[in-house]
Amino acid sequence: MYIHILTLFPNMFTGPFSESIIKRAIDRGLVEIAIHNIRDYTADRHHVVDDSPYGGGPGMVLKPEPLFEAVAAIKSEWSKCGESEKGESELPVLLLTPQGRLFDQRAAEELAEYDELILICGHYEGVDERVREHLVTDEISIGDYILSGGELAAMVVVDAMVRQLPGALGSGESVGEDSHSSGLLEYPQYTRPQSFRGWEVPEVLLSGNHAAIARWRREQSLRRTIRRRPDLLERAALSDEERRLVAQMEREED
Ligand SMILES: C[S@@+](CC[C@H](N)C(=O)[O-])C[C@H]1O[C@@H](n2cnc3c(N)ncnc32)[C@H](O)[C@@H]1O
Repeated sequence: MYIHILTLFPNMFTGPFSESIIKRAIDRGLVEIAIHNIRDYTADRHHVVDDSPYGGGPGMVLKPEPLFEAVAAIKSEWSKCGESEKGESELPVLLLTPQGRLFDQRAAEELAEYDELILICGHYEGVDERVREHLVTDEISIGDYILSGGELAAMVVVDAMVRQLPGALGSGESVGEDSHSSGLLEYPQYTRPQSFRGWEVPEVLLSGNHAAIARWRREQSLRRTIRRRPDLLERAALSDEERRLVAQMEREED
């Protein structure tokens, strides 16, 4: 996978992308991440990237020209992405914005299917509307709150996508068992010591009975989802028996 990030603050990515799973995925050649400084795509002497909003109001707005220039340069110089029948690049251009569609596990899995994409990090009051209308192919929000810039949002999106790439994680099973991957929250996890301050690990996990452990985990997963995120149950893929179990658990919870 090839990810291009357009930002005014390239250094912000240095730490997060040089540690842990993302670093390993880069080292293994599973993902290439190119950080492009939006300022490099300005044409004026002072490398101006923003200006005050038409109509007045506080703050500054990112100008359209450097963003259009940057995306054009990536498409012509870097991109390995194909073209549509109309001869247009099929490279997805994603804008990080609190006004976008909410990023969730499903979106992470969907975006991880792309071989290549561009992420645009806004700043200040955001980007000129013409960028949204004529450059961007999708808009992504990581939650209903306002960040100072799109950089942290881009890191969240990249991390969640890269975890999906085959070979990125140590164990292939981990992705499927994580909260949200199965449509449910994950079951409780325990490690040594068996007894900590008098709090014991559940007996079943020590039993060595794999079927019983799997059953307990699934039940815990369902119970935890009912208590914390009942909204997830509507979309979760459950067997008829699990649906019956959920109904019973819901009655117990009342
Ligand atoms: C201070 S915000 C601008 C918000 C803008 N005035 C609005 O109300 O939509 C600056 C930049 O941070 C990024 N940003 C802020 N919150 C975000 C969120 N929840 N998800 C994704 N990006 C976000 C966007 O790139 C945005 O352009």
